[in-house]
Amino acid sequence: MSTRPRTPAPATPAPGKLPLPELGEMKRRGDKIAMVTAYDAPAALLADEAGVELVLVGDTAAMVMLGHESTVPVTLDEMIFLTRAVTRSARRPLVVGDLPFGSYEVSDEQAVASAIRLVKEGGADVVKLEGAGRMVSRVRAIAESNIGVMAHVGLTPQSATKLGGFRAQGRTADAALKLLDDAAALEEAGAFALVLEAVPAAVAGSITHSLAIPTIGIGAGADCDGQVLVWHDLLGMYQGRTPRFVKRYARLADEIGSALSEYVADVRSGGFPEERHTYTIPDEELEHFQAALRARAED
Ligand code: KIV
Repeated sequence: MSTRPRTPAPATPAPGKLPLPELGEMKRRGDKIAMVTAYDAPAALLADEAGVELVLVGDTAAMVMLGHESTVPVTLDEMIFLTRAVTRSARRPLVVGDLPFGSYEVSDEQAVASAIRLVKEGGADVVKLEGAGRMVSRVRAIAESNIGVMAHVGLTPQSATKLGGFRAQGRTADAALKLLDDAAALEEAGAFALVLEAVPAAVAGSITHSLAIPTIGIGAGADCDGQVLVWHDLLGMYQGRTPRFVKRYARLADEIGSALSEYVADVRSGGFPEERHTYTIPDEELEHFQAALRARAED
């Protein structure tokens, strides 16, 4: 394991934690909110240094970190483990712990108990859950327990099977009106913000204008009050297709791939390690050591 410091400390100390009401103020001022997912401490530190307001420890971890085919299998214990790593280094941004599938559907009591675990054991500042309908009551119960709760409608990956796959939502007038009503119900229940995923821009814009709480869009157009992208999508950390709504700001998978190939070639050719990567022993000690070895061999 490397003995190098994990990540350089920021030049100036991070200011304190962003107050939750500031997100509402940002919406009123027309300042856009930046949110990104992160699943470990170094990523959270980089996100903090880049100035994001919100770090989401998303259940997308199931796919991008744990190798599952969907977000469904990740457990509450796994989410707590990842959230704890993120909260160790995200100082200013609010850390949103994502409630995984199965941790809030059964009852309001289950939802509150799971939210408390994410906050107490994971250190999350607030939590997020997917859906409306019966989930409105879960949002109310969590908010009434004094835990900030972010709602999420549109494409809700935990129910992708029921929605007919990973596809845009709210593309008929009726479906768009339902989304608008769901958003209003979630706001009324006490959500402090709403993620809109894969929703037509015009529909997301109308929802955004109808709410006092901020909307955070992912594939929901520029009129949302903020945007969120998944860490691995934003940084191009895997090869292959990404959804239409992803903008890749780097191609780290390519860079990591060539760095690893170079490393493997160096190990095979003896090009690594070089002298500057190795430790020395004083000549005198080396001589004693070699003499001791010779003496042992003669015994
Ligand atoms: O889990 C997640 O990463 C999310 C984002 C896609 C909003 O819910």
